Amino acid sequence: MSPLIIDTDPGVDDAFALALACAAPGVDLIGVTTVFGNVGLATTTRNALRVLALCGRDDVPVAAGAERPLVHPHQHRARHVHGTDGLSGRSGTLPERATGVAGVDAVSLLVSLLESAPSPVTVVAIGPLTNIALLLAAHPAVHGKIARLVVMGGALAGGNVTAAAEFNIWSDPEAARRVLVEESVPVTLVPMDLTTRCAVDGPWLDSLAAAGPRGAALVSLTAAYREHYARSLGRDGMVIHDAVAVAEAVKPGLLHTTAMPVDVDCGFGPGRGGVIADRRPARQPDDRREVDVALSADLDQVRAFLLSHLAD
Ligand code: BDR
Ligand code: CA
Repeated sequence: MSPLIIDTDPGVDDAFALALACAAPGVDLIGVTTVFGNVGLATTTRNALRVLALCGRDDVPVAAGAERPLVHPHQHRARHVHGTDGLSGRSGTLPERATGVAGVDAVSLLVSLLESAPSPVTVVAIGPLTNIALLLAAHPAVHGKIARLVVMGGALAGGNVTAAAEFNIWSDPEAARRVLVEESVPVTLVPMDLTTRCAVDGPWLDSLAAAGPRGAALVSLTAAYREHYARSLGRDGMVIHDAVAVAEAVKPGLLHTTAMPVDVDCGFGPGRGGVIADRRPARQPDDRREVDVALSADLDQVRAFLLSHLAD
């Protein structure tokens, strides 16, 4: 079993991502850490616990992390996308978990899980990168225990919060820069350019709802989110960004990646939070680190993979 940790800000698509991590074969979800993002930290943490309860995973330790960005606080959350409770107003329909949060903060839990893991761990970050930046900055000794960091974030060709920036990176650009540019842990970046192309449609959601109680419960969390995406896509459907990133983590190679250096705009102009990927094919080699950016996939295969495991 490959050990997996998820750092998350649930969030409707985070809920799908957590459910996938619980259902995927060959994967051992050993911990979940939470961060501010789509809604405030108390709510993302409560939602993570409830989604894990829905999946029958009272055993997975959960710890709460950052409630604000590293350097520049802001009040922007994504309640207009995910609903005021982060789950389309439906979080109260989920079961409460018998086990509450661990008695430690997120970074401490990450360190202890990494230190005690028998083999290197895949870490999937599907919210702002604040917890991960703090971990990597303060605990270099555990870098070698991270097999791969899979990050949902960034927009190479137009963002969703601003013209340039995608929500997770924009929420804490300084943290994202630390993780994507300044550190050397192997990173696979799954930007919204690709996750958007993996959007699921009404029949996909109907199939999941019909598959059983867990699938039906997940689909019942989507009303507000689906309305947002119907407006943004111009058709019925929604983008489950975070589940696409977890799909790559549990089935490496499902997405096709290209190695390239990236930077994160930490200025205060219109580009703030943007990811600048150097895609020049004939650029001169230099000493910048490269991250693997997921740019393409067999889209139908990704959707089928998601449905088959979420409907399990
Ligand atoms: C990302 O932002 C959040 O709203 C989603 O949960 C996802 O992690 C997409 O831009
Ligand atoms: Ca998220």
